[in-house]
Amino acid sequence: MPVITNIEDLRVLAQRRVPRMFYDYADSGSWTESTYRANESDFSAIKFRQRVAVNIAKRSTDSQMLGQPVSMPVAIAPTGLTGMQHANGEILAAKSAKRFGIPFTLSTMSICSIEDVAQETQGHPFWFQLYMMKDRAFIADLIERAKAARCSALVLTLDLQILGQRHKDLKNGLSAPPKLTLANLLNLMTKPRWCLGMLGTHRRQFGNIVGHVKGVSDMGSLASWTAQQFDPSLNWDDVQWVKERWGGPLILKGIQDAEDARHAVECGANALIVSNHGGRQLDGAESSIRALPRIVQAVGREIEVHMDGGIRSGQDVLKALALGAKGTYIGRSMLYGLGAMGEQGVTKALEIIHNELDLSMAFCGRTSVNDIDHSVILPGSFSPWI
Ligand code: GLV
Repeated sequence: MPVITNIEDLRVLAQRRVPRMFYDYADSGSWTESTYRANESDFSAIKFRQRVAVNIAKRSTDSQMLGQPVSMPVAIAPTGLTGMQHANGEILAAKSAKRFGIPFTLSTMSICSIEDVAQETQGHPFWFQLYMMKDRAFIADLIERAKAARCSALVLTLDLQILGQRHKDLKNGLSAPPKLTLANLLNLMTKPRWCLGMLGTHRRQFGNIVGHVKGVSDMGSLASWTAQQFDPSLNWDDVQWVKERWGGPLILKGIQDAEDARHAVECGANALIVSNHGGRQLDGAESSIRALPRIVQAVGREIEVHMDGGIRSGQDVLKALALGAKGTYIGRSMLYGLGAMGEQGVTKALEIIHNELDLSMAFCGRTSVNDIDHSVILPGSFSPWI
């Protein structure tokens, strides 16, 4: 077993252990992947101000997201097909997040259902991510199911009513469960741990959907489901409709533009997530970390601004907080841990990021994440286009 010291180690192990089509699904962006790459590389362009001789003996990463206490301002992002990276993946990730004291967000396109996750985490509150579909009765029912499971926030995703093309998914013939073609069988033969895990669970399809939508007993591919069911007519009136039905804390995900951020405030959302869907939708969109300061400047005094996209370390979290994010989300960093080592791997990813955040904050002369502001960044090392 290799010594794991960073998120890249988990990625390498996940690539070895997860069947190609699911690893590729997690680890790709749309078209040329320029936005996916920019999410990561724009972080590395930002430099810190190192400070010395500050008493850093007592430190804390405790904070709040949406008024809820968190052991660090890092939540688990909603990711589709998580239960295909590892058997029962969403349940394992939710358990790890619960123990760590951070929010877990369950995707609409998860393998384990809302009810499964609620039951296996003994009713510990988690967040639920919603996509708007044409069948409003189904959406109303999903919202009721999230309420019944005591989900403590609803994350409405606004940037995926149509699907950005990911070349590898088409080439791999992505579906859940995988079709047993010769190529898939040959690849599965090299992933014995994954196969064993999958044989030991009944959760191999989209658990929130199959059995809950009339006539859908086998959904197959995400791409065809999205094309048929997701509602491209989604607009701000629908956001209001969701807000009223839900009645609890609402987070709007997928905001990159200051005018859209203003709409989010006018809708009465409690938080927004600056996000380009991990570079999986509009290829050529700006990285999230570059967009963040502009959104914070526009609405940061009126609404909690969170961000996701490209976070592979605690240093990245620190940079996002310095540029005004009140909270951050990890998607791929969590999936790599899950694919590599199941629940233990998710915990490892969280420990790595926590440790890097704690130490980097201290090197910048700060003892609490609540004291982090723009002054930890080296002036001139970062110029967002405001
Ligand atoms: C959506 O869930 C995606 O595949 O990016």
